Amino acid sequence: MSETQIKVEHQGRVALVTLNRPKVLNALNNEIIAELAAAMRALDADEGVGAIVLTGSGKAFAAGADIAAMKDWSYSDVFKADYLGHDWESLRRIRKPVIAAVAGYALGGGCELAMLCDFIIAADNARFGQPEIKLGIIPGFGGTQRLPRAIGKARAMDMILTGRMVTAEEAEKYGLVARVVSAEKLLDEAMEAATTIASMSLPSVMMAKECINRAYEVPLDEGLLNERRNFHALFSTHDQKEGMSAFLEKRPPQFRQE
Ligand code: CAA
Repeated sequence: MSETQIKVEHQGRVALVTLNRPKVLNALNNEIIAELAAAMRALDADEGVGAIVLTGSGKAFAAGADIAAMKDWSYSDVFKADYLGHDWESLRRIRKPVIAAVAGYALGGGCELAMLCDFIIAADNARFGQPEIKLGIIPGFGGTQRLPRAIGKARAMDMILTGRMVTAEEAEKYGLVARVVSAEKLLDEAMEAATTIASMSLPSVMMAKECINRAYEVPLDEGLLNERRNFHALFSTHDQKEGMSAFLEKRPPQFRQE
């Protein structure tokens, strides 16, 4: 496994993870995904990290699964290996907040990787798409499930069945991305958002993430009950007492992440 395919840097309590295979537009082969999943799991377990930013390099966030690597695979190869099932599942289970900072192409598995993050901040030059249909396949890393949840059935059908790319502006209008900024400001904006999140109490941040994700899994009644129980549970933390005391004493809170 090459160590140069993923770069991890730390800035205070924020980790910046960069996909670093720019010559092939960060095409996602088994090695880069395994390396990414391992790096993300390590950051999730690192007490010094409160939020993660995931970004690309060169012309792309990621232009999708590696077509050259996949071309000759048989059904039996991909089925037996459960192609990327394990690593993709483990990325999905990261409990700390992950922001995708997307510049350039986010296509196929690249768009799916961005959607697997908690929210996307896009540069004005970002392009999103699920072009798998043009290759005789379909999205395989969650695109047929996460895209309709993010932008609705009509737009997801349009993107997945025609394979067309949408601009950052359209993606913002669709609700796929949270913010669009100029390409020069992308990393600063994402790092600033992550720094803000990392300055909060980690248990409340993690519970908020968990509760929002539950909204896509369970009926409203269950989701509301789960939210209420988590809300109740936070009254057992140091940081709830500190956050409320600090507000009343008109001073910044000193969270201990517990
Ligand atoms: N896999 C492997 N290599 C890729 C790649 C990919 N997904 N995307 C780009 N590359 C490689 C190109 O082959 C090229 O390599 P060479 O220099 O060795 O020829 C290099 O990256 C630069 O790409 P281009 O010359 O094509 O760059 P461009 O600016 O002309 O076009 C692009 C950019 C429109 C993104 C075009 O590269 C493209 O269409 N890429 C493929 C996008 C795609 O189909 N993605 C879906 C993949 S399948 C998938 O992801 C399945 C899934 O859901 C799990």
